[in-house]
This record gives sequence, C-alpha cells and structure tokens, in this order.
Amino acid sequence: MGAGGSLQGAQWASTARPGSARGSPASCGSARGLTALAPSWPVGSPPVSRCRPVSKARPHLPDGSSRCLPQAFPTRMGCQEAVVLCAYLEMGSIDLRDRSVIELGAGTGLLGIVATLLGARVTITDREAALEFLESNVQANLPSELHPRAVVKELTWGKDLGNFPPGAFDFVLGADIIYLEETFGELLQTLEHLCSEQTVILLSCRIRYERDNKFLKMLKGHFSVYEVHYDSSKDIHIYKAQRHSHKDDF
Ligand SMILES: C[S@@+](CC[C@H](N)C(=O)[O-])C[C@H]1O[C@@H](n2cnc3c(N)ncnc32)[C@H](O)[C@@H]1O
Repeated sequence: MGAGGSLQGAQWASTARPGSARGSPASCGSARGLTALAPSWPVGSPPVSRCRPVSKARPHLPDGSSRCLPQAFPTRMGCQEAVVLCAYLEMGSIDLRDRSVIELGAGTGLLGIVATLLGARVTITDREAALEFLESNVQANLPSELHPRAVVKELTWGKDLGNFPPGAFDFVLGADIIYLEETFGELLQTLEHLCSEQTVILLSCRIRYERDNKFLKMLKGHFSVYEVHYDSSKDIHIYKAQRHSHKDDF
C-alpha cells in the first residue's frame, strides 16, 4: 500500500460489548483500567484528547478467521496510532507468521497482541511502571495457547539493552512513541541495538510538533525511512525504517 492509501477496507470492528468487562484492570473503558495505565506515562504524555475510543478490535487472522478480542481497551487510552498500525498489519502486506517481533512503548499492548494473533512471536515492552497493566491486558486478550508467543518485558529505552539480543528481531513496532524529545536519543540507541540490516521498523505517529520531525531526521541519519501509509482521516503516518546497508555507502 502506498503513501496516502486508505485502510477503509480493513476489518477492524468497533464492537463494544457492554458487560464483557471482567473487572480486571484491562476492562474496556473501566475507570480502573484508565487509572492503571495513566500513571505509567511520563510527564508530557499524551493529552487525553489525542486518544479516541477503540472499544474492541476484531483482527482477521492468517487462517481467514477473525477474533474479537475478549477484553477491550480503555476507551480514553485506546490511541489511534496503534489502531492504524494494527489495521495496516492486518491488511496483510506484511506476513508476521513465525516472525520475531518486539514492540516498544506498548502501553495497552494492543499492537503486540494483534501481532501475536497474526502469527508472530512477540516481545511486548514498556517501562517498569507500565508492566503490570500490560501483562494483565496481554493475558486477558490472548487465548491461552498463544500466551507462550507473547512475552511482556521491561525495556526502558537506552537502559540495560544487553537484556535483548542485538539485531535479533525481524520487526520492531512502535505506536505513538515519538513524543518526548528527551527520550529521542535513547529511543534511537534502542533501535540501533535491536536492528540488524534485515530488521524492519514500523512506527505509527501523528506529526504534531516540529520535534517529531526532528526525531525522524535523527532516524534518517541511521536508517532508510519511508512513509508506507498515511491515514488522512486520523492524520496518522506509518513509517518503515531499515538500517542503511553498507552497500549504500558505495
Ligand atoms: C503515548 S503512549 C503509546 C502507547 C501505545 N503504544 C499506544 O499506541 O497506545 C507512549 C508509551 O511509551 C512509553 N514510554 C515513554 N517513555 C519511555 C521510555 N523512556 N522507555 C520505554 N517506554 C517509554 C510509555 O510508558 C507509553 O506506554
């Protein structure tokens, strides 16, 4: 799909099912869900107005079936960047089956959960403070047979990167993670550590401030970066990045 393409054909359903909440912190729209997640985001985190209801997601899976995620996502916190990237993945232009994927700044974990449902082995990461909520969301939204394929792990950008094998992932995913200028250096360092020349990074974001472009400029210093999708209705871009190959030097 080229830049400016539409995801209107994507099979994402917003099918809020009242009463589906089981009382865990991951329950859709529950105040408990919101308070569980909100403190994990640092100062300068997204204003609530940036997030719109996700309700429930129904990814279409590689075998042609679809799955309605049994536990949905906090309505205020279901950020559209993750939804747009999930829909892009679900369109099938990228085959995630049996690929190793890491999600950075996972928040609710929606993106990592959908990648797992689409067949990937996923390491779903965030800062320590976000992990309890993230883990419960992942547990609640994946069938038990897929639990071994989705591992929740702490990854604070730039810290203890030795816990992650360098260059070992096929895909690095991130939704709405370009927003804090003070983290740009560490985020870039993390991407450099995680990526081999074969690794594909997919980042979805809105460009809200000049500093967001600044990160993209920094990224272009180390990776080849292309816009592969733009959702004009939500003003969300998806960028694909891959390490410069040494061949580019000649
Ligand atoms: C705006 S939220 C996006 C969450 C999720 N990806 C989504 O789209 O709904 C940004 C996420 O980045 C995480 N984050 C912020 N700074 C971080 C850092 N230095 N290291 C790791 N994660 C960080 C936050 O905890 C939060 O989950």
